[in-house]
Amino acid sequence: MTFDFAPLVPAGAPPPAARWTGSAKFNFTGGNNDADAVPLDGLMAAAQAVLAREGRSLSHYGLASGPQGYRPLRDFLAAKLKRDAGMACTADDILIVSGSLQALDLVNGALLARGDTVICERDNYQGTLTRYQRLGVTAVGIPLDEHGMRIDALEAALADLKRKGVRPKFIYTIPTVQNPTGTILPEDRRVALLRLADDYGVPIVEDDCYADLIWSGNRPPALYAMSKSEDVIHIGSFSKSIAPALRVGFIVAPWSIMSRMLALKTDAGSGALEQMVLAEYCRDNFATHVPQLRVALRKKLDTLMEALNEQFGTAAEFAEPEGGIFLWVKLPDQVDTLALYQKALAAGVVINPGPEWSTDRVHAKSRMRLCFASPSQAEIREGIAVLADICRKEFGVPERSGNVTRAKG
Ligand SMILES: Cc1ncc(COP(=O)(O)O)c(C=O)c1O
Repeated sequence: MTFDFAPLVPAGAPPPAARWTGSAKFNFTGGNNDADAVPLDGLMAAAQAVLAREGRSLSHYGLASGPQGYRPLRDFLAAKLKRDAGMACTADDILIVSGSLQALDLVNGALLARGDTVICERDNYQGTLTRYQRLGVTAVGIPLDEHGMRIDALEAALADLKRKGVRPKFIYTIPTVQNPTGTILPEDRRVALLRLADDYGVPIVEDDCYADLIWSGNRPPALYAMSKSEDVIHIGSFSKSIAPALRVGFIVAPWSIMSRMLALKTDAGSGALEQMVLAEYCRDNFATHVPQLRVALRKKLDTLMEALNEQFGTAAEFAEPEGGIFLWVKLPDQVDTLALYQKALAAGVVINPGPEWSTDRVHAKSRMRLCFASPSQAEIREGIAVLADICRKEFGVPERSGNVTRAKG
């Protein structure tokens, strides 16, 4: 008899996880990055140098840098965020966390209670949406267009909630290369968003982990930089610019809320070796690494768009993203991407079905998110051909695939 833990699990715990059964042959999911673009030589040299110089500081929790993280990494970030995003912050305004997922948990833990309401973009990062669900928080989704969150719809939602006596806890936004739509909120919309936030007394959580991956290399100033009232919590990550498995992210926030989040970060510090290696590597190499990464990602996006055009023709609609690692694709209305996901999985192709990436499952029913960063060019071409074949068999679209008209069957 094996012990039965099930009756001991408290009510409200998330459902049990499925066991990992290995990677799919064609993986278009997750926020994975390009394996060839991980700067291995630089990271190895950085590890060697920083450990030789100050490795003995590992003997102390937090490397004797205090609870906010390794000081040289925070110094690097303060300078980088000033240069790239216009943010006037110092190392003291920055908290290093274990990936920006931990940042989301700390923000949520500091501000949200069951029954609360937050506002966010309608199509959204699944990790954010599932957190709100688990916390019993209502997420009001704002539609997007080709320039990100629609400010008219945001204004209407804020007014509607006010009429109902609901004050949302915050506006969560991914303004710079939105996940999953790949849009960038232009500066005039950023001004309007900040004005509305001010008018309604609602703070903003700015999740900015893709900002380094804009093809043009130019990003608009961060909302954090533009705010005049210290009402923005800024979240970033090294997952997309260096490597996601490092698990290093950061929060920039005013002390009034930083102090609350710090009180919730009871893990005795995020992994120190990663922080040391990143600080050592990034100081001299970040500025040259990122443009190379962008070139590699852009090539893969081009391959994916070509493959979709070739295999799906007009059945796959998408707007070319301005950066990042995802393509948000609309298939014809009869396609149910949750069903397509199941069928494709059986054939070794994994996609992110739209309903898991939106506050509006009906709107997202025939949409899917494809990550193009981790599969090789050949895997992208082959995987999309397999996907088109399955889609045609299940839903009758595309009628033509691979430039061959096929009988429906
Ligand atoms: C918008 C957004 N926020 C946060 C995360 C979490 O990233 P990480 O915890 O690796 O920093 C992701 C990952 O894909 C994301 O897309």
